Amino acid sequence: MYQNCLAILSVALLLCACGESEAPASDSVSSNLESAATEMQKNVADVVSETTAVVEEVATEAVEVAEESAESVTEASSEMLDAAAEKMDAMKEEAADMAEVAKEAATEEMAAIKQTAAAVMQDVESKVEDTVQDVSAAVASSDKPYQLVDGKISENAMNGWRTYNGGGCGACHGKGGVGAVGPNLANSVKNVLTQEQFIDVVTNGRSGTMMRPHKTNKRVMDNLDDLYVYLLARGDDVLGPGNLIKQPLGK
Ligand code: HEC
Repeated sequence: MYQNCLAILSVALLLCACGESEAPASDSVSSNLESAATEMQKNVADVVSETTAVVEEVATEAVEVAEESAESVTEASSEMLDAAAEKMDAMKEEAADMAEVAKEAATEEMAAIKQTAAAVMQDVESKVEDTVQDVSAAVASSDKPYQLVDGKISENAMNGWRTYNGGGCGACHGKGGVGAVGPNLANSVKNVLTQEQFIDVVTNGRSGTMMRPHKTNKRVMDNLDDLYVYLLARGDDVLGPGNLIKQPLGK
């Protein structure tokens, strides 16, 4: 705005200057020009003051608009903040609800799992008990020379196990008679030899082999029957090859 006004003003001044420099000889012409110049100067002054007024008005308006918009922005942003805070609260509440629901579900699930586990445990326990009872009953009702009582092997087989170890049989026949340089005795007793043949081999040995006679070994001779019973229980898989003191059934 100011620039436009300045432009108009300078054109007007230029015109005035021209009028003066080219002053004509005639006085009337000169006075005419003078009054025209005065008129123009007045017009220019009017335009300038008018323009200034307009500019001021516009500036005031602009300031007002700016203030207003600043106010409305503040208002709007505080509204937005309020809305965001509200939304946050709602989300927090929702999250808390969801956590509560999840907790409840987890607790329920845990309870169900615990119940299932307890039921499974009970089932397994009763099955194990049944199996032990079945084996005990089967062994007790059979004509086997050993017995299982409360999951423990009878004393004759225990004594046979002690004799097997004390007699040094394991050095050649392996732990619990599983076989080494000498044959698997659990198998021999169950599938190969009668009790008489067993006693004969142990007592007299097998000539020409590493199996020596044990007739001079009092410990072995006094416990031949129990030794046989132990190896029979091994052959029947009632006993494992392990230590019967550490594990009642050697397995
Ligand atoms: C020095 C090693 C050695 C020792 C110790 C030993 N045996 Fe043997 N035993 C053998 C060998 C080897 C044979 C296989 C002989 C053959 O070839 O027929 C054998 C065979 C046997 C057989 C016959 C198996 C069959 O299927 O024909 C019996 C039973 C046996 N031994 C019991 C015992 C007992 C019980 C003891 C402990 C008191 C014992 N042996 C100690 C090496 C040994």
